[in-house]
Amino acid sequence: MAQDLWLSSILSSQQLSPLCTYIVIALLNIFGLESLSLSKQKEDSSMEKKWWHGKVAYQIYPKSFCDSNGDGVGDIQGIISKLDYLKDLGVEIVWLSPCFKSPFVDQGYDISDYQDIDPIFGTMEDFDELLAKAKERGISIILDLVINHCSSEHEWFKKACADPNCEEAKYFFIKKSKDGKLPDNLRSYFGGSVWEKLPGHEDEDLYYLHYFAKQQPDLNWYYEPLREKLFDMINFWLDKGVAGFRVDAIMNIAKDLSFPGLPADGADGMCSANKMTAKLSDQAATFLYEMNDKTFKPHDGLSVAEAFGVNQESLANYIGDNGFFSTIFDFSARELNEKYPAYYRYRPVTIDKWREAVFAAQNRANPIGFLCPIIENHDEPRGVSYYLPTHARTPDGAKAFAAVNVLLRGMPFIYQGQEIGMTNTKFNSIYEFDDLNAKDNYKVALEAGLTETQALDILNIESRDHARTPMLWDDSKNAGFSSAAVTWLKVHQDYHKLNVAAQKDDPNSVLSFYKQLIALRKSPEYKELFTYGDFQALDPVADYVVPFARVLDGKTVYVIANFEDSPVSYGVNADSKILLSSKEVQLQDGTLTIPAVACVVVAL
Ligand code: NOJ
Repeated sequence: MAQDLWLSSILSSQQLSPLCTYIVIALLNIFGLESLSLSKQKEDSSMEKKWWHGKVAYQIYPKSFCDSNGDGVGDIQGIISKLDYLKDLGVEIVWLSPCFKSPFVDQGYDISDYQDIDPIFGTMEDFDELLAKAKERGISIILDLVINHCSSEHEWFKKACADPNCEEAKYFFIKKSKDGKLPDNLRSYFGGSVWEKLPGHEDEDLYYLHYFAKQQPDLNWYYEPLREKLFDMINFWLDKGVAGFRVDAIMNIAKDLSFPGLPADGADGMCSANKMTAKLSDQAATFLYEMNDKTFKPHDGLSVAEAFGVNQESLANYIGDNGFFSTIFDFSARELNEKYPAYYRYRPVTIDKWREAVFAAQNRANPIGFLCPIIENHDEPRGVSYYLPTHARTPDGAKAFAAVNVLLRGMPFIYQGQEIGMTNTKFNSIYEFDDLNAKDNYKVALEAGLTETQALDILNIESRDHARTPMLWDDSKNAGFSSAAVTWLKVHQDYHKLNVAAQKDDPNSVLSFYKQLIALRKSPEYKELFTYGDFQALDPVADYVVPFARVLDGKTVYVIANFEDSPVSYGVNADSKILLSSKEVQLQDGTLTIPAVACVVVAL
């Protein structure tokens, strides 16, 4: 045991050079000692095997993927028309951001009917066709489960407003003001108080709770009949053949029903709602075990949660064999910026900080379960523009980042457009943005004294709309996304060169590199290793290098991404074999020379 701890600290130490790491592992093998890495492997191999293990997932933002009917908005038939593209890329699980009925105040994360498709995307028949055609291609579909809140247009909320004493009113948190003051001082994620006067009852001092926009009233999970309604709804989709759900903002379901508020963390006298959520995570766990038992578990469904701030002590409850989720996204890098809730207080998160955060998360998850590595999603700017140094915000940078994303331990999610190296879009005015959060942050920045240009510059770094601009298919009008005169959100300025058609047949494109990485991950020789192999951090050798090993049953593969603007050398062993690289990498006498902004995958 003591030996294990000693070895663990040596092997995970970032001080150790890659060559030393290799020698330590080799010696352990020669002398038959049981290293910590090997004992971990045993745990990993004995993990309960699941149908989704070893697969690569892809996120579609339906409004921006492909528009089949020329109204400027993507739709389900558009997605169907691109299934072969997805199959060719090698993805086997597709997550659709919400496609349910919605007024789209928060782009579908405000659901007015959980069991119907919004007409803007098509019909339930279209959806059934998508499920069937995806299945024919070996692709499972997962949907977005937005159950912390619904839309103020949902019939439950309308009934609650019509009669605050009715059954449906119990589905929400409706409170009277306290001595003329709001029930508590929490601040919503999209700005302002979490409390809003109940429509139709403005004179009665009645308020309802909304952690997000005021059009997204929070649902009361403490009321059992409401939970049963939600579980029935989940089962409706799972029975239909949906493979699971990505679970939205779920930790927020826990509330302190005395609504005590928290000490202010801003000049407005309010405190971010997420601080309350963090305090109450154990309460959420109780509900989440119940949800799992009544829905996902009996269906063997996949649940991928959006859960921020999960600590090491509780991780097994989330993603262990008996956890309440299958897996959760790794937001550790994104969380570095959570300390600066307003965009204008943005501080760059450089790739060395990204590495530290993500490697720590990988180490935490190693003995427990799988995380989902991501570079970006629909709530984030493009990762290449955000995390990489300026000289690496290029196709070369996108390829090196791809190797890290696809080969880390866990189930990688690729966000639409990432596979062609999409960067941030240039927005020229506040009027070009759509997202309510961008608009709120613009206002907050101006109130804080920034000029309009400065506020716009910040949105051009941070806005969620960067991920939401249309997918770039070719160099025709609107990048082949839509035949409409105007698309719902502007098209990326570089689409004439940056598009799928331009990359499809180019063996050196970002798209081709993604395909190669996914194929390597799934290849018979390396599938087990990339699925169940341990993660081990390697010596970074320079600030902007992201190197790690995957190890299983005596097999070791190094993945090294160099984002520096000069070559780096890396010690391996003399008979190492280069499996894949994004540029020509030299291997001589056990030393790799990796060019600037490039990556290599090496079997030791
Ligand atoms: C997280 C979603 O990813 C985001 O897009 C949304 O605004 C909030 N949850 C509220 O549902």
